[in-house]
Amino acid sequence: MKIAMVGSGYVGLVSGACFADFGHDVVCIDKDQAKIDKLHDGEMPIYEPGLAELVGTNVKSGRLTFSTDLAEAIKGAKAVFIAVGTPSRRGDGHADLSYVHAVARELGAALSGDTVVVNKSTVPVGTGDEVERILGDSGTAHKFAVVSNPEFLREGAAIGDFKRPDRIVIGAEDDFGREVMREVYRPLFLNESPILFTSRRSAELIKYAANAFLATKITFINEMADLCEKVGADVQDVARGIGSDNRIGPKFLHAGPGYGGSCFPKDTLALLKTAEDYESPVRIVEAVVKTNDSRKRAMGRKVIEALGGQDAARGKKVALLGLTFKPNTDDMRDSPAIAVAQTLIDAGAKVAAYDPEGMEQARPLMPQVTMCGDPYEAIEGADAIAIVTEWDVFRALDLGRVKELANAPVLVDLRNIYQPEDVRAAGFEYDSIGRG
Ligand SMILES: NC(=O)c1ccc[n+]([C@@H]2O[C@H](COP(=O)([O-])OP(=O)(O)OC[C@H]3O[C@@H](n4cnc5c(N)ncnc54)[C@H](O)[C@@H]3O)[C@@H](O)[C@H]2O)c1
Repeated sequence: MKIAMVGSGYVGLVSGACFADFGHDVVCIDKDQAKIDKLHDGEMPIYEPGLAELVGTNVKSGRLTFSTDLAEAIKGAKAVFIAVGTPSRRGDGHADLSYVHAVARELGAALSGDTVVVNKSTVPVGTGDEVERILGDSGTAHKFAVVSNPEFLREGAAIGDFKRPDRIVIGAEDDFGREVMREVYRPLFLNESPILFTSRRSAELIKYAANAFLATKITFINEMADLCEKVGADVQDVARGIGSDNRIGPKFLHAGPGYGGSCFPKDTLALLKTAEDYESPVRIVEAVVKTNDSRKRAMGRKVIEALGGQDAARGKKVALLGLTFKPNTDDMRDSPAIAVAQTLIDAGAKVAAYDPEGMEQARPLMPQVTMCGDPYEAIEGADAIAIVTEWDVFRALDLGRVKELANAPVLVDLRNIYQPEDVRAAGFEYDSIGRG
């Protein structure tokens, strides 16, 4: 089947490459000429493990192509996916649907055959209805169906998640939509991945409910970690103790500096907005958003404490290890590192940082931070070292060398990747999240 993917970012490019790998004929479209030029040159516009190889193989086989010309590229496509961004709208937190609507308008003018338009972007309930209205208003003579197929992949593990999903959610209102989607995902049917057919509105809400639930789980364990610090308990043990209950589950119980990234912050806000619009409050999510927002700067203050407090922090040097919101991505959107760095800079500290993949995206977001070539360069002369993202490269630092290079052996582990006793035995002052 020919599939067109409109939007070739983290979701569109990974999904397009995986569909091509399943044997479909895929064109990935983007309006960003530079992105498409890079892809034509065999370069990846984003960092995602395994993506360059997957794209390379499928381009070679002729099943994966790239284009900036939507009208030409969608010719003959039975399914056209919308995978463009839906960032927070400035001012009110509502999802900005202007990119989705713009694509719908372009599609309305360009449909050249019966087509299923599939919304893969994360969009508020009712967006599918609006896309259907836009297509209808275009006066197209072709049959179309609008389907919601939210994406649950995680950056850093995106290919595995796409190919072996926990579930596939398809919100369709008619048989045409359902049949085409069955064909699109047939290889995964054969893999026995559970496919959930729902109404379009249910599918749209499932995505927000899932992200809000996960954000809640993270925020819950973060607050437990704070309580652990006060009462002298260890959050790692508490997480293990509750997570081994099957009703709770062990995942998303890692205490840290607060959730960030391209999805949870904007999706929780958009859910609040939907709840407000429908006068159906989601108070738990309101609390989660508030708690998480204040946590990021609190993490900066934790590092300031390790430096000896506000007065002592002025002029001191802090090494930040890790900038991206999680490892194995270059995505800096809403990363806690941004607030941590800003809090330190506001206190008059100097900040040097190293991240294996995120520094290019980080530079414009934190112009006062000195970017370094490796962790040890950042650590040289530092009065405190803070691990902000749990990249593997930070798990086995040469603590002897760190101690020699640093001005003071002070380690603030915002991801709990070290054992307190090991670090203390190496002669460091050690602070962590909720480990007493
Ligand atoms: N990144 C994730 O981990 C993830 C996971 C699940 C769902 N999502 C959702 O998927 C959607 C896309 O997210 P992303 O991270 O891939 O975004 P992204 O910003 O990486 O990519 C979006 C792409 O769409 C392109 N685009 C915008 N308007 C266009 C148009 N009219 N025609 C062609 N291309 C256009 C942009 O140039 C950009 O390359 C969002 O709604 C997001 O919430 C993201």
